[in-house]
Amino acid sequence: MVRVGIDRIAFYTSNQFVALKDVADHNQIDPEKFSAGIWQENMAVTTADEDAVTLAANAAETIFADGSIERHVDQLLFATESGVDQSKAGGIYVRRLLGLNNNCRVVELKQACYSATAGLQMALAQIRANPSLKILLIASDIARYGLGTPGEATQGCGAVAMLLTANPSILAIDEEAGLHSDDVMDFWRPNYSDTAMVDGKYSTKMYLTTLKACIKDYRQRVDSLAFDHLCYHLPFSRMAEKAHKTFCRETGTKFSADEFAEQINAGLVYNRTIGNSYTASLYIGLTSLLDNQHIAEGARIGLFSFGSGCMGELMGATVQPNYRQALHATKHSAMLQDRQQLNYSEYAQAFNFNYAKDGDEQVLPLQTKGTYRLAKIANHQRHYEPTQS
Ligand code: HMG
Repeated sequence: MVRVGIDRIAFYTSNQFVALKDVADHNQIDPEKFSAGIWQENMAVTTADEDAVTLAANAAETIFADGSIERHVDQLLFATESGVDQSKAGGIYVRRLLGLNNNCRVVELKQACYSATAGLQMALAQIRANPSLKILLIASDIARYGLGTPGEATQGCGAVAMLLTANPSILAIDEEAGLHSDDVMDFWRPNYSDTAMVDGKYSTKMYLTTLKACIKDYRQRVDSLAFDHLCYHLPFSRMAEKAHKTFCRETGTKFSADEFAEQINAGLVYNRTIGNSYTASLYIGLTSLLDNQHIAEGARIGLFSFGSGCMGELMGATVQPNYRQALHATKHSAMLQDRQQLNYSEYAQAFNFNYAKDGDEQVLPLQTKGTYRLAKIANHQRHYEPTQS
């Protein structure tokens, strides 16, 4: 059987962030609640000239920038729950910005934080049938709950781009997976709201209930649940600890504290300083694990994807020989080092930035350090362009 999976992976986040200590001080909350209670240090804050489209284009640009990968794909799948249009797919803008070929299928996918995984499985099924296909999957999101809300400390933004192929350089993904879906109202965002609505404690409970159901389904399809590392969807970093405790309990595996940390901690490095990036979060976690820990070739990674509402999937994957050569770890680290820290009032101002909704022309200030930006909104249309033309 042909091996299929991730040939390249790169992520992008905004060049500005706020420290959660400053948010805690402003809200008169003990900062330990965020550092020790949910394991978050900072959260990424979007600039006025970026949105889910620019984050996505900037993530994917890293894959193509050095010229080693041809700018030609058979499909571009764009997963998001913070799309910029109810009709037009964000990927349509991204394809043009990246200079990819026109004879390419482009579509946007939605199911809360889960949809990138649906895209991954749909793409891999097609590649198994036709191993010459190259599919670009991008997950991109901005998590917004509102200032002063319980969800505030779990905001963030980011995008991840993955080139999916046969005989992948980084990670081969198994065909069988454990699935579970249910109709629940733990987190949602009506069309008229630009912030999410959430029943926070219930959403955490649904996440863990769904994980258990996925483990059960996985067991019925696959013999072994033995993984060397696990990456979980990360609404906040400590969710991985809760999930991994559940995983160990359900599978009857016992680990020392060091082994437990070894299995999940490297996957949390980026999330701790970016925050939730919804659809991208699991795969930025995977990038974090690959970039920050030397993993043995052939090691098994378990991936748990969860999207509120809800849908979950547990997958198994195998690390490929020489995978480190295909990573962009140095670029990721430089991008995070190069960010500007906002104080609380700068963060609140950025959060409350008003975008034109009346069709008037609004030229946006140049703030992003990314390759692509939202330059203006005019006649209800968004205009994207390279930052340096
Ligand atoms: P909250 O009410 O702000 O916080 O809600 P809390 O009181 O539950 O405290 C959080 C933890 O900090 C607790 O630990 C406290 O004990 C601890 P736990 O009980 O969990 O072990 N704590 C402290 N620790 C040390 N020192 C202190 C201190 N004070 C408290 N001084 C919540 C937290 C995450 C629910 C909230 O921020 C929220 O609603 N966030 C948004 C929803 C969310 O992230 N849900 C996660 C699961 S759903 C999901 O993953 C899907 C999602 O990504 C969306 C999608 O699918 O599209 C969200």
